[in-house]
Amino acid sequence: MNELNGKRILLGVTGGIAAYKAAELVRLLTKEGADVRVVMTNSGTEFIPPLTLQALSGNPVHTSMWDQSIPNGMPHIELSRDCDLVLVAPATANFMAKLAAGRADDLLSTLCLARDCPLILAPAMNKQMWENSSTQRNLDTLLQDGIHFVGPDSGIQACGEQGAGRMSEPGLIASEIISWLQPKLLQDRNVVVTAGPTYEAIDAVRGITNASSGKMGYAVAQAARDAGANVTLISGKTSLVPPSQARFISIISAKDMLDAVLNEVDHADIFISVAAVADFSVRNPSERKIKKSQQKLNIEFDETPDILKTVASRKNRPFCVGFAAESEDVEEYAKKKRMEKGIPLIVANLVTEALNSDTNSLILIDDDGSKTLPPSSKLEQARLLMTHISRLITKQ
Ligand code: PMT
Repeated sequence: MNELNGKRILLGVTGGIAAYKAAELVRLLTKEGADVRVVMTNSGTEFIPPLTLQALSGNPVHTSMWDQSIPNGMPHIELSRDCDLVLVAPATANFMAKLAAGRADDLLSTLCLARDCPLILAPAMNKQMWENSSTQRNLDTLLQDGIHFVGPDSGIQACGEQGAGRMSEPGLIASEIISWLQPKLLQDRNVVVTAGPTYEAIDAVRGITNASSGKMGYAVAQAARDAGANVTLISGKTSLVPPSQARFISIISAKDMLDAVLNEVDHADIFISVAAVADFSVRNPSERKIKKSQQKLNIEFDETPDILKTVASRKNRPFCVGFAAESEDVEEYAKKKRMEKGIPLIVANLVTEALNSDTNSLILIDDDGSKTLPPSSKLEQARLLMTHISRLITKQ
């Protein structure tokens, strides 16, 4: 899917060694369908030739306030109109200082002042420059002015020093831009998402769990965040990094997950239960490691609490969405689960396609029937799910 189709992005390139990464950034943004216009400062052109960015973007690169090729002779106005956002990558300490002071002495700084769309900066500089109190003061000012930042990252710098100040990688910047430009269908809604497996201990070192990787649940959390929601992600153990800006609560067992959900759900507008919760827990788990013996080991199990059903049966319940992973007769079993749990929407998927994979094909089942989404990445599926949920909650 071209996530930036129809979007126009103005990329500003200022004078730092990370300017060479602007080429990859232009490539990634255009690959996603964006129309990228590049404006460079004079120092930017010292690090990467404008021709490279012209070839990759398919558009002329602008460097001068007095650009005669712009019909109305006002490039700072002409170029900043109809943009969905302005991204400056790399943004130097000097450029941040100019923006913080409201100075406009070249095309890029003037255009940033004249814009009527969001501005995102990806800073890049030596770590001492980044940590310098004047840069940090400028950062505070820019944040207060509503300017957004991606990075900087930490690591080895071009000068050989190590620390914060490296420009974020183009892939990360591009994915932040894609997130940023998603329609805000769930603006300011409080969304609680459960994800991953639960682990029910048998003894100090053994337990029962399942093969959920958490990928689907984390994608749902990210899609909800990108749709403008305040997200709380409650997750069993996975190897994934939670989406930034989501509140993250880590749990082990089904009981922990129930407690965490009940703590959060009072303020939730939407509850999405993607977790693969263990259906049984061990009655008396041993605190020590059970030794091998000749005797048969008998383990007694209790059913775990049904978290989704508990939430769905509350008086002031949020809009509840369940998931159902089935190995056969997917739709039929999922419809039954929707009824049993008393929820407006259940999302069915085939175990063999869904578990631990990067792609999925969801079936959305509600009062109006069922709708199958064509296979795609879990994030794309999750975005389509957010669109569906936003339609259902506005109908309520
Ligand atoms: O994590 P991945 O590798 O990406 O895999 C994703 C997934 C396959 C785990 C996910 O897409 C999915 O389908 N999750 C639901 C798994 C399932 O089949 O759950 P269930 O049939 O046991 O439960 C149905 C619903 O009730 C689910 O929303 C579940 O979260 C919830 N439930 C179940 C048991 C329980 N004790 N409490 C619950 O809340």
